[in-house]
Amino acid sequence: MSQAIALHPWKREQHLYSTENELVIDAVNACELVEKYGSPLYVYSEKKLRQNASDILSNFRRVHRNTRVCFASKACANIAVLQALRDAGLSVEINSGGEFFKATVAGYQPEEMVFNGVAKLRSELEEVIRAGIKAINVDSLMELKRILEVARSVNKQAGIALRIIPEIKGGASAGWETGTSESKFGMTRDEQRQAIGLIKNHPDHLRMKGIHAHIGTQITDENAFRAEALFLTEYAQEVSAQLPYPLEHINLGGGYPKSYTSSDANMMAVPDHYRDNYCTRIDFGTLSEILIKPVTDALGQEVEIIVEPGRSMVSDTAILLTRIESEKQRNGAPVYYLDAGYSVLFDTYMGWYFHMVNATRADDTETKLCRMVGPLCDSSDTYYDIEGEGRVKSLLNSDPALAQHRETLDKVLVLQPNMRELPANTRVGDVIALLDTGAYVLEMMNEYCGRQQAAAVMVDVNSNSRLIRRRSNNEDLLKYDVYESA
Ligand SMILES: Cc1ncc(COP(=O)(O)O)c(C=O)c1O
Repeated sequence: MSQAIALHPWKREQHLYSTENELVIDAVNACELVEKYGSPLYVYSEKKLRQNASDILSNFRRVHRNTRVCFASKACANIAVLQALRDAGLSVEINSGGEFFKATVAGYQPEEMVFNGVAKLRSELEEVIRAGIKAINVDSLMELKRILEVARSVNKQAGIALRIIPEIKGGASAGWETGTSESKFGMTRDEQRQAIGLIKNHPDHLRMKGIHAHIGTQITDENAFRAEALFLTEYAQEVSAQLPYPLEHINLGGGYPKSYTSSDANMMAVPDHYRDNYCTRIDFGTLSEILIKPVTDALGQEVEIIVEPGRSMVSDTAILLTRIESEKQRNGAPVYYLDAGYSVLFDTYMGWYFHMVNATRADDTETKLCRMVGPLCDSSDTYYDIEGEGRVKSLLNSDPALAQHRETLDKVLVLQPNMRELPANTRVGDVIALLDTGAYVLEMMNEYCGRQQAAAVMVDVNSNSRLIRRRSNNEDLLKYDVYESA
């Protein structure tokens, strides 16, 4: 049940390539970075961060000049990354008081922030309303009432955008969908009618600035974006008719996809389902046509368009470098034990695919199939895929009648690439690079099994590296425990 992913091609012009058989990122040797800063190590590229920011800004503003791009900071709230994106012209999306704090430290002004979340605390609301945040994307009627109370108590007017449920499926996987009433997000039309009534009745403390939708993450179906644009333009017109003043903005959320494999050829061996998740041709040029242009055509240039991209701003701006610490032979194939597991790269626990390159032997062409696993003490700590096998077994246990669909279940749940194709000379001590690991990683690390969180460095536009997140240490392991010294 194993599938190999083709070793080549993986190079990315002027960004990821090789020199003397070793991986180079923005002209800096990856193995030397590990020598200098230790392993595991995230390496962010300032050049790529700037490129992504300018790519989305130029494409979207070409179609709609009044576009604001609010980086969804949950995707990476490292201060250096936030600063690089701010310097490149982005605003910011926050999801908590903690992210408000980090965005403020990174230099973003409240007027450049929008605030999402399904369970905002009174204390968080008070802080952002006092500060004069651009908009709170309100998720429920209950929350709007809470905002009114808080705004009254501090005698301020809160800027409101209502998050609507568009009933559009988005996101390559069901768990990634956020735009239907099956999910926990947003308000129904009926709830919004009541919300608008409440806003109109309290003009001193509530101002309806915009409407908002966000339909999922890693959305690889163009039709979902087309449907979202159509839905929001019609809905904007409907809401405008109920308001005594014009809507200031339409917030289209994020969810823009990025490929997680260097080339389509690398994904030819896997089932359609996985190809759909990890390969996309939707770039910001396409999005400007299918998402931004229909809104502009219907509503004109005056209204501000806000977008909230997270993953698409940062996923391809970092690689994770991890050293092979140990080796075994199992079932005729080598198993290599890396010093990074899911405590460092949480999405692998969720079964996410990241392409691997041997940074120590970047140009070797003779290859072998091997299993790559992490150092943690459970079987799910593997870069594929005994998890899938387990899922089939438990489904069959829960419903034996499914046995007749065993072949399909195996295909869908197991047939991911569980063997990696790496250089035949791969051995203990080599540095392995996992590509496209810039999104949803740093804040999701933990110290499970008493292991250290990885450090992170930034390679700047002049190809100098600097530490942007320190490696955790034993003192950090004690940081939350309250105890008396023995
Ligand atoms: C409301 C909202 N906006 C934007 C984003 C960013 O999504 P993505 O990283 O897929 O662009 C998220 C992600 O969870 C979100 O919940």
